[in-house]
Amino acid sequence: MKFQTLISSLAVATAATCGRIPSKSCSGSSTGAALPTTKLANIEVVNTQLVQDALELIEVLKPIQPYLYNHLVRSWLYGAAAFNNNETLKASIDLEAHAIGTLLHDLGWDMRENSPWHSSDRPFEVDSALGAVEFIKEHNLSDWDATRLEKVYDGITLQGMGTYLAGKNIDSVWMVQSVEFEFPGPRDPRIRDEDYDSIQAEYPNDTVFRGTNETFTWLAISKPDGTRNTFVDYFGTAYVPGYGEQGHLAFDLITAGVADEIKNYPNSTFQSNL
Ligand SMILES: *[C@@H]1O[C@H](CO)[C@@H](O)[C@H](O)[C@H]1NC(C)=O
Ligand SMILES: *[C@@H]1O[C@H](CO)[C@@H](O)[C@H](O)[C@H]1NC(C)=O
Ligand SMILES: *[C@@H]1O[C@H](CO)[C@@H](O)[C@H](O)[C@H]1NC(C)=O
Ligand SMILES: *[C@@H]1O[C@H](CO)[C@@H](O)[C@H](O)[C@H]1NC(C)=O
Ligand SMILES: *[C@@H]1O[C@H](CO)[C@@H](O)[C@H](O)[C@H]1NC(C)=O
Repeated sequence: MKFQTLISSLAVATAATCGRIPSKSCSGSSTGAALPTTKLANIEVVNTQLVQDALELIEVLKPIQPYLYNHLVRSWLYGAAAFNNNETLKASIDLEAHAIGTLLHDLGWDMRENSPWHSSDRPFEVDSALGAVEFIKEHNLSDWDATRLEKVYDGITLQGMGTYLAGKNIDSVWMVQSVEFEFPGPRDPRIRDEDYDSIQAEYPNDTVFRGTNETFTWLAISKPDGTRNTFVDYFGTAYVPGYGEQGHLAFDLITAGVADEIKNYPNSTFQSNL
């Protein structure tokens, strides 16, 4: 189903929302933009052409990875639900960048043989980020400067590294936070129960663990050079015959370096503080 058809079959909100897009102005705000909105799973979301195109782009994932499509849309909607629940927060977010950074954050999981996003040697997060940036650039939009592109790139590459984000820009942080709402655990108080319910009803997660396990195993099979020394290593070690040793690049480099260093600098004093 084309996205336009999908949209027209849903209740379309006519109101615009204030979010932050550089170079456009929103009434009452010098930095915000008046953005078109619509509702998905009863969550108000930003609805620019770029966002519509991103949602249409990931439709290609549906036939063989429906769990992935649902995971991507849920990540976006969880973030949007948290913003709708806090106007102060919402006004400080680049809602269009957030939509792209969540909807496209796992392009590198695409298991189709002809996937345009699958490299042989990069981690899937980087494949995904490069794919998302390329997708935006192809639209030739004048309000997408290098800073916005980099926020999307960073939000996607850092998706699994929530503990590394202190001091990072709020837009990249919220792309990662929105993906983290997908992690198992209790519901987050920043999202209303009724929003959780409507998102999970429309985009169920009932095969997400099986799908993720299979995708990670496939990544280890299809590009061990892009999984070694990442957390996907564990899936290669566990499930892929012949995958070989789990990577321990930094450990190997440093411990081997210690022996060389002692040989080269036998007279230096090193005081252990352990
Ligand atoms: C709303 O968001 C603002 C800005 O991020 C934050 O300071 C505030 O604590 C949030 N309010 C609630 C109730 O979570
Ligand atoms: C963007 O610009 C390139 C190069 O000028 C052009 O080939 C392409 O068709 C344009 N794309 C859109 C969506 O306008
Ligand atoms: C999956 O959705 C169910 C509700 O359908 C929810 O109870 C559960 O917490 C969700 N699991 C994850 C990992 O989000
Ligand atoms: C994960 O997927 C691999 C490959 O299909 C499979 O061998 C393994 O049993 C799966 N793990 C679990 C816990 O089901
Ligand atoms: C280390 O000290 C010894 C004894 O003073 C000296 O003979 C040797 O040349 C020194 N080695 C290096 C690499 O400086």
